[in-house]
Amino acid sequence: MPILSIESSCDETACAVLENGRALLASVVASQMDIHARYGGVFPEVASRQHVLSIVPVVEQALAEAKISLQDVDAIAATRGPGLAGSLVVGLNAAKGLALGSGKPLIGVNHLEGHLYAAWLHPASEQNPPPPPQFPLMALLVSGGHTEIDLMTGHLTYQRLGATLDDAAGEAFDKVARMLGLPYPGGPLVEKAAESGDPRAFVFKRPKTDGRWDFSFSGLKTAVLYAVRDLEKAGKPIPVSDLAASFQATVVDALIAKTVDAAREHGVKEILLAGGVSANGPLRQAFLQLQNDGFTVHIPRLAYCTDNAAMIAAAGWFRHQAGERAALDVDVLPTWPLS
Ligand code: KG4
Ligand code: ZN
Repeated sequence: MPILSIESSCDETACAVLENGRALLASVVASQMDIHARYGGVFPEVASRQHVLSIVPVVEQALAEAKISLQDVDAIAATRGPGLAGSLVVGLNAAKGLALGSGKPLIGVNHLEGHLYAAWLHPASEQNPPPPPQFPLMALLVSGGHTEIDLMTGHLTYQRLGATLDDAAGEAFDKVARMLGLPYPGGPLVEKAAESGDPRAFVFKRPKTDGRWDFSFSGLKTAVLYAVRDLEKAGKPIPVSDLAASFQATVVDALIAKTVDAAREHGVKEILLAGGVSANGPLRQAFLQLQNDGFTVHIPRLAYCTDNAAMIAAAGWFRHQAGERAALDVDVLPTWPLS
């Protein structure tokens, strides 16, 4: 039987219906991006109010698209954290209401876990989906709030081997976008600008960290800032595309190098890429190249990379299979590490 899921950790109100842990019957995402763009980032108070407005229509639309009623679902999964408290409470409380009204069990899901499980998803209409990821696997999670390498030895089991010591990869993309005069959300626009740029135009050093599988992006971000300032001082035009391409290439290089190193060290052949930044074309390409080095690479489809509820349903399905249930007085967890 299907699972209904809700996601509202940041600025997307989303609901999905999933069957068998992988086959997606419906995935509806109401984005608030345009509203927050005028503030140059997510405005938490505005985000929670928008979730309140969108949540019921989004759930109704997902059920209609899946052609089922609430009585047909097996369980209701919702994001408990991490994320903005005021945003999380809207989705989690809506899920509690649906669970209470329908008598179906509630399952609380970690948003980061959801991102990883996006790699399991495929549209229900697809006849021959690719094989699901196998364990052990090395997962690189790159989003707006998190960047980490996790070793998964089985379902719902995570060992964090390294993480960013400062900015998350997506955060660095967004901040560099701002320096280059590109509007919010910057990540996709940096990628777009980089398409016509030369990745070797600026030489940015690959960030160094003491921890072998940790990341650091604030030095790189500052290097871009100084490059922009030097050009401005000299009265020269800012080569936005070249700067974007050089920055992006350095980030991709750092992400790939550490993930491969961690996989080799642990004798792991399966690699998984997830989180909003996994929508980045050159990063996806670079990961796919690793297949030539004997790795099996899993990357979620583009539609499931940035925040959505389908991924919450996938993780929720495995938690449901494991017999997990959340109490109806369960609270949100704005800070909630995976491991
Ligand atoms: O996973 P996500 O949707 O939300 C969080 O959980 O944080 O990730 C959003 C982040 C933002 O920083 C956004 O700029 C970045 O992912 N992002 C990208 C791309 N698409 C989204 N970064 C680089 N290239 C992209 N194509
Ligand atoms: Zn996310």
